[in-house]
Amino acid sequence: MTEVLEAVGDAIGMERVGIRFSPNVYTQGVDDSDPIALFTAVAHRLEKLGVPWIELREAHQPTSAGAVPTVPVSPAMRPLYSGKILLNSDYDGPSARERMAEGIADGISFGRPFISNPDLPERIALGARLSPGDTSTFYSGGAAGYVDYPTLDRVEAA
Ligand SMILES: Cc1cc2nc3c(=O)[nH]c(=O)nc-3n(C[C@H](O)[C@H](O)[C@H](O)COP(=O)(O)O)c2cc1C
Repeated sequence: MTEVLEAVGDAIGMERVGIRFSPNVYTQGVDDSDPIALFTAVAHRLEKLGVPWIELREAHQPTSAGAVPTVPVSPAMRPLYSGKILLNSDYDGPSARERMAEGIADGISFGRPFISNPDLPERIALGARLSPGDTSTFYSGGAAGYVDYPTLDRVEAA
């Protein structure tokens, strides 16, 4: 991690660099037996390097893929790292607001809801229903399922 961050920071300036972790779920063969110890060490290192933001895919309940999370690491990282912390995984508007109110995250990021709701910010602002994604087109490699979900005005007009 340090070598990659330093190399990218040297090339483009550390103020343009962010990094994402999936700290508390077994992901694609990657797991850790002691995530709090590891990610507090990571937080110290990120602070020293001056990395301006990080994103944590930090599940709070079993994921839709069935992975069971261990403890969240963001509460332990927050006091050690002064950059922005974005949290991710399985949020909608209300649950994102609830998480933000806990005072750890600087922002919440959205993956699948952004694929299936091209107007996601407007929908969240309005409290409108979110369209579910079509999982059969995820990772498909083509445009179908990535550029053809309707905006809310088209849903309502249909
Ligand atoms: C089609 C698709 C591709 C993804 N590709 C990546 C990826 O390349 N790297 C990564 O870290 N996460 C990837 N993710 C995971 C998302 O970034 C995100 O963490 C996950 O969907 C959970 O957030 P969500 O509940 O807001 O969708 C992908 C997810 C989907 C659905």
